Parts: sequence; C-alpha cells; structure tokens
Amino acid sequence: MSFDLSVFSNKNIILAVTGGIAAYKSAILVRRLKDYGFNVRVVMTKGAQAFITPLTFQALSGNPVHTELLDPEAEAGMGHIELARWADLILVAPASCDTIAKFGAGLADDLLSTLYLATKAPVWVAPAMNQQMWAAKPTQRNLNTLVEDGVHVIMPEAGSQACGDVGLGRMPEPEDLAEQVKNYFHQAQRAIAEKFGLLAGKRVVITAGPTREAIDPVRYISNHSTGKMGFAIAAACYSAGAKVTLLAGPVSLDTPNGVRRINVSSAIKMLDESMHQLEEGCDVFIATAAVADYRVAEVAEHKIKKAGDELNVSLVKNPDIVATIAQQSKRPFMVGFAAETRNVEEYAAGKLVAKKLDMIACNDVSRADIGFASDQNAMTVFFAEQYQMEKRDLEKASKQEIAQQLVEAIHDALHHEIEPI
Ligand code: C5P
Repeated sequence: MSFDLSVFSNKNIILAVTGGIAAYKSAILVRRLKDYGFNVRVVMTKGAQAFITPLTFQALSGNPVHTELLDPEAEAGMGHIELARWADLILVAPASCDTIAKFGAGLADDLLSTLYLATKAPVWVAPAMNQQMWAAKPTQRNLNTLVEDGVHVIMPEAGSQACGDVGLGRMPEPEDLAEQVKNYFHQAQRAIAEKFGLLAGKRVVITAGPTREAIDPVRYISNHSTGKMGFAIAAACYSAGAKVTLLAGPVSLDTPNGVRRINVSSAIKMLDESMHQLEEGCDVFIATAAVADYRVAEVAEHKIKKAGDELNVSLVKNPDIVATIAQQSKRPFMVGFAAETRNVEEYAAGKLVAKKLDMIACNDVSRADIGFASDQNAMTVFFAEQYQMEKRDLEKASKQEIAQQLVEAIHDALHHEIEPI
C-alpha cells in the first residue's frame, strides 16, 4: 500500500510521437504516465503513423489522438492553440532528426511543430535514431539550438539498434521516462509546498504502528495496529512542506515519498529514537503509535521450552512516549491519539490534560466501519484549553483525507494566538 499524495490528476501531458521504431515504446509510456495519474493526450506526426496506429494511442490514453493541423473536425474538438495551452509539459518521444530540425528552425508546417511554437509549457525531447544520424553535425547543431532555446534533451542510450548498428541513439525505457516526468512535477510541487505549504519549514516526527515486546528470541507481545493512519499523516505532512521523520514499528507499508523512516521495534527503542529526534530538532510531534502498555520484565535469552500447562510471564509497564516528550523543557507541539470504545470524548479530553498534549484526535473504535485496519476513519479533534479553539469533528473519510484535515488542524492551532494563562 502506498501513501504517495503527489496526485498528478491535474497535470496534463502531451506525448508527441514522431517517426521511428522506438514509437512502440511510447505505447507503454502512455500507460506508465497514466499510472501516475497524469492526463495524457497524444500527438502523432505522419512519420509516427507509419510505425503505429493512432487507434492504439487513443485506446491507451483514453483521449482522441491529434494528427492534423488544419483538419476542421479535429480543430473543432480541441484546436491547436487550445491544445498548446492545455499542456503542462510536452514530451516528444521518440523525437526524430526531422522534428528536432523543425524545432530548431522554427518551422510550423505540421501540428507538432506548430504546438512547439504555440506552447508556454516546458518541452522535453527524447531523441531516438540511428547512431550515425545522432552523431551527424546538423543533428548536433540543431540539438544545441534546442538546448539554448530552453528545451530539455533526454540523452539517448547506447546499445544495439533496430537497424543492426551499435551506438548512441536508443530511446530510454518508458518506465525511466515516465519516472523522470513524475520526478519533475514532484519536485515542482515540493518547492511550492516548502514555501507555501501549511507546515512549510516545520520538522515533524511521527510515531506509527505497533510496538513489539520480546518474550524470548522467537516470541513477542504486540497488537493489531497497521500503521496506516500514521503513514497517511506522514505523507500529508510532507505534502504540506514539512520535513518528516517517521518512527515506524513493525508494519508492512511502503515508506511515503520524501519521508525519512526509522524502523523501531520495542517501546523502549521508540522512546529512545523519539528523544534523539527531539535533540535533532522537532516542531511537531505526532504520536499515532499503538504502543504496547506492558513489556516482559525479563526477556528470556533462549527460546522458552514447552513445559507444564501454564506459563507465567511477568510484565512491567512501558514508558508513555508522548507524555515523556511532552514533559521536556523545550517541547514541540504535541499531538496524541485516543482510540476508545465508550465515553470517547470524556476519555480523550482526560488524556489531553493528563499527557499535557496540545491536541488530541480521538475515534470510536467500537464502530466497525472505521479505525484499525480500515481504510476509512472519522475523528473528533480537541485542543488544549489555552488555545481556546472549538473541537472539530472530522467526518468519515479516507485516512488520507482525515490526515489532510489533521494537518489543517495542526496548522490552525500553531497559528492561533494563545492567550496568556
Ligand atoms: O493512553 P493511550 O494509549 O490511550 O494513549 C494514546 C496516545 O498516547 C497515543 O497518541 C499513543 O501514541 C500515545 N502513547 C505513547 N506511549 C505509550 C502509550 C501511548 O506515546 N506508552
């Protein structure tokens, strides 16, 4: 399960396919771009249509394919100027010598060369051609012109070519190209988030998942926490511009994009790492972990052998991580969680005070439709009295959406004028 909040469903890519055997790879490229959530429209030159049909790209992109500059029917659908404005990026892959030459010379005698002149969007070209044609002086001259004009040239790779030659000229694999496009938009989003995001410039530490308390080298005590909520919050904090460290108990989840993850096992290790993070600098501490309340008093050095009908294991109380951090002199903004089955609000408000938290998010785990392993959640958020903020009900929604609302609540509390007590 992935918690990458970098959704690109609002980003439009024009994939321009020109003549060359690598055009078949562009079919897969459309799929990969769609996998990342991009809207894709395909433009094909005449040369490209000799290698692959527009119908293939129409089926893969889910959009009509654009082939003509002055076809009244096509222009009625989305004219070339409109198409040029629609694009957030134009990726020409494969880019033939001919197209590169046209771009360099500023010709506008077909749809693609006209789009190139008519767009404000960044243009990337991925040249693919015979190694001799790649090395030819006019090609290199035109490419230099393109670079000077601000076009991003994706270097071809070396290897054996369809024509039997060996050398530079192969188009990179579609997966690589799609990833480069994703990274480009991701970095652009990150730059904006770091400047204007709700948690811009904040260092956030999040505990997540269960802890595992060893009984002997092969057995342990733990709980059913999946860590999904904490991981979703980590992703939301990152998207809001924060630097995020995730202290994760044993869970089987992918690390959210951009998040620094430190795996821990026991409550003691989670506390140690939390204290270490506090020393490194932390503005907001979010405790979503379902920390085991007790650990085994003495962990057996060797596997305990079966003997008798009963086995007694003595347990001792684990430290309360969130309460310990909240007691530190230079403490961050503290966010706790409470999962209750009854008197939800009363117990949560009690924990807010007892653990000296700034904010607590509580949910009713007696409800079968939310919490624990569910992908959905609903919560009520309380703020410490001195914030003088109303409690907030976060209606049932995906854990990602709840995480986003929690980020907003944290932001609002951080920016709330606190009256002197
Ligand atoms: O006391 P209770 O476990 O219900 O409190 C829940 C909150 O306290 C959560 O934010 C949880 O991550 C945190 N907690 C902790 N260390 C513990 C127990 C709970 O940080 N040992």
